Amino acid sequence: MTDHIPFDVEQLRELFPILKRKVKGKDLVYFDNAATSQKPQSVVDAISNYYSTYNANIHRGLHTLADEATAAYEESRVAVKQFVGASSHEEIIFTKGTTEGINLVASSWGRANLNPGDEIIISTLEHHSNIVPWQMIAEERGASIKVIPIDDNGILDMDAFKKLLNAKTKIVSIIHVSNALGVINPVEEIISLAHLNGTLVMLDGAQSVVHLDIDVQKLDCDFMVFSGHKIYGPTGVGVMYGKKALLEAMPPYQGGGEMIKEVTFEKTTYNELPFKFEAGTPNIADVIALKTAIDFINKQGKNRMREYEETLLVYATDKLKSIEGLKIIGDVPNKVSVVSFIIDGVHPQDLAILLDNQGIAVRTGHHCAQPLMKRLGIVGTTRASFAPYNTIAEIDILVSALHKALKMLK
Ligand code: ALA
Repeated sequence: MTDHIPFDVEQLRELFPILKRKVKGKDLVYFDNAATSQKPQSVVDAISNYYSTYNANIHRGLHTLADEATAAYEESRVAVKQFVGASSHEEIIFTKGTTEGINLVASSWGRANLNPGDEIIISTLEHHSNIVPWQMIAEERGASIKVIPIDDNGILDMDAFKKLLNAKTKIVSIIHVSNALGVINPVEEIISLAHLNGTLVMLDGAQSVVHLDIDVQKLDCDFMVFSGHKIYGPTGVGVMYGKKALLEAMPPYQGGGEMIKEVTFEKTTYNELPFKFEAGTPNIADVIALKTAIDFINKQGKNRMREYEETLLVYATDKLKSIEGLKIIGDVPNKVSVVSFIIDGVHPQDLAILLDNQGIAVRTGHHCAQPLMKRLGIVGTTRASFAPYNTIAEIDILVSALHKALKMLK
């Protein structure tokens, strides 16, 4: 455990080569971590090392390189299993990312289990990845989608949720932490209420896994998905966790090599878990580097990093609130290090351009959550999302850049 070691942000920054670069002649201030985090050198090296020293296809070859690549790929699965507290490596399916994980569950589980009249519950906070796949399968199966309402700060209306649950509710698919606002949802309560109703729960962990301790067995979620690139790992790799009994009963998502046991022109039998859901040559290099990202998190200590992020969040919230006309959306105690705000009379896109001129990267717009923005009655927000390699000094740079931008825009 590293929890007792004092957190040293300068030491941590040294591990991330990109933080040394300049943007528009200024030191980069990277506050777009909820979109994708930066990568430590160890992750970059893991990818390069695979391609330079043991690139081979996995699970197929009977040669040294294939053995090494297969071993590294499967070690990553075991690392993910431990990272999320799954009971077996067979419950860990590698995907392209969160979006593919949700599509996998909606498509495979949905096709086998949803019938006309059934209901799927999502929430107003969802990003498009946790809306559209459910709309597609609902249309195909004659099911319908019910949406948990929120208040103006993005807090779920749990009474409304309880009323939505009924005998027709087959699955609740819910974002653990809102990407747009940073608000943490009460998923423990959601899962226990859903299970009392005989309803499954899928957690979209895209924004939670990097910040919060996750134990899928304690949470008792039925499925959980997340992306590698938001946890200091590469793009193009993600994870779908599912309880073994559910995965065993589900049909494959895609057909092809690797997911089969035996193929004849008359009939194909499918491979066992987890391979049944991993058709074709997977993203070997990035799966391997995902383990390196997990090693990085374990070495730094998730709680230690979260504590530091909390100081950034408190400081930024306080400073930003002092700006005239600025309103934080999702200004609640239970949130991760994301500050999403609007400023009277200022379009977020104009702000983003002016901030970029100062070397500051934030995300602006609807954050792939158009229905949420509609509910909040806004076109979008400006979102600063912090990682443990960010500093108080960088927040000061953001605040003074905002003052400068507002002088120009107002
Ligand atoms: N879902 C990512 C974000 O919130 C892309 O920025």
